[in-house]
Amino acid sequence: MSYYDGMVMRHRDTSAAPTLPTRNLLGHQPNFKADPLGLMLRAQREVGDLAQLRFGPFWFHLLSDPAEVYSVLVAKHKKYSKRTPGYNMLSQVLGQGLLTSEGELWRRQRRVAQPAFHKAQIVGLTDVMRAASEDLADSLESPARNFSVVDIAQEMSNITLRIAGETLFGVDLTDDSVEVSGSLDRMMKGFMRMMASPLPMLNTSIPLPRNLRMKRDITELDRVVREIISERRKDPGDKPTLLNMFINARDEDGKGMSDTQLRDEVLTMLLAGHETTANALAWTFYCVSKHPEVARRLEAELDAVLDGSAPTTEQLRELPYTTQVLKESMRLYPPAWTVGRRAEEGDEIAGYRIPKGGLVLMSPYVLHRHPDYWENPEGFDPDRFGPDKTPPVRGAYLPFIVGPRKCIGEHFAMTEAVIMIATLLSRYRLELIPGHAVIPEPSVTLRPKNGIKMRVRRR
Ligand code: HEM
Repeated sequence: MSYYDGMVMRHRDTSAAPTLPTRNLLGHQPNFKADPLGLMLRAQREVGDLAQLRFGPFWFHLLSDPAEVYSVLVAKHKKYSKRTPGYNMLSQVLGQGLLTSEGELWRRQRRVAQPAFHKAQIVGLTDVMRAASEDLADSLESPARNFSVVDIAQEMSNITLRIAGETLFGVDLTDDSVEVSGSLDRMMKGFMRMMASPLPMLNTSIPLPRNLRMKRDITELDRVVREIISERRKDPGDKPTLLNMFINARDEDGKGMSDTQLRDEVLTMLLAGHETTANALAWTFYCVSKHPEVARRLEAELDAVLDGSAPTTEQLRELPYTTQVLKESMRLYPPAWTVGRRAEEGDEIAGYRIPKGGLVLMSPYVLHRHPDYWENPEGFDPDRFGPDKTPPVRGAYLPFIVGPRKCIGEHFAMTEAVIMIATLLSRYRLELIPGHAVIPEPSVTLRPKNGIKMRVRRR
């Protein structure tokens, strides 16, 4: 099977959306490979809110009109599926987990998982989040580390993996965390390479060294995940974890989930739950370090509310500015920088025809910097999300998207991230190392290429 099965190859009739001119045989693929974010921003600025782009013989649409994006994701969601090249690739690894499945299977799994993400349930998880953030804060000034320079992106990746392991599956992943992070990391880079490849038919079955490496990574992740499942099957523990909910779920015939389905769900949660939050946090520390006036206001809020410990659930409500800072950094650096959908039937968007099989990309990165909807879109200003401000236009701010497929972990992620920011910044200042270039790299999530090197100073 090709990841591009069923995709539209030509769409050039008069009702088709306009495109960026290109004389390259491969269309916009070389530009995408070199700078995907730049290409998307350019397409929106130069062509408009519906632009066609071409990858070799395949065409896709970049949709940047907030109202139309909202409509595709909410009102018209039944017309669109996730059968896109990106998700086809991802399902090679994640199988039929919540992120990649469709139809009845997805509905059932979402029903089972939803209670684990209710606000009341998250309150019960904050102790784990608080303990993990305090352990990290303590470790930064331990004699072994002694305020040395840290890669805050790597630190966030390790700590969010630990939190995901403990809260969702009731297991300690600390020993495996470096291997798991490494495997997930290489896999995601592999996906991005394939997405940007001029030969879309090049799939993982061709025994190139990097594909073989990817296979080894998948086997390693499989091992860790299957161990987690068998541990929990033997001893469910006393906590109502997400994994226990999946293990205990029964269909109408009383049948439970297969080990393969459980494996897909666990791996999905590991991938969707830790990398995204880790990146949101890393970008927040970066943005704060670049804006001393924001840092001082944030510190003042933290000093007024906290006493040196991580915030309790009640104290979280008293940290509105911290939440605004997080929201603003996810505006400029949305971890889920683009989402794709495939039209399962013909559609019309903004007066243009979208053919059956047409691929529609919607990019929070582009929407969040759209000059028609944001004043000074490139500027970092947490006051945009202040209590006295009008909320962004519907569809213009979508870090977790909207509609039935919106992120199930939104409240989990926001709680975890505010706890982590508050705990670390109430004790320390994180200063960017001069000369260390921080470059956004759009992989499956938007991550800082080469990490973010920072010096930790006690406040
Ligand atoms: C800042 C952190 C996060 C961001 C920005 C984020 C963003 C997103 C986005 C945009 C989607 C929709 C993707 C699409 O439909 O194409 C999504 C889906 C999903 N997210 Fe998150 N996410 C975050 C954290 C989490 C966490 C902490 C978890 C779990 C613990 C999680 C689990 C999921 C799952 C399972 C889905 C698929 C939901 C479905 O289709 O029913 N995410 N996320």
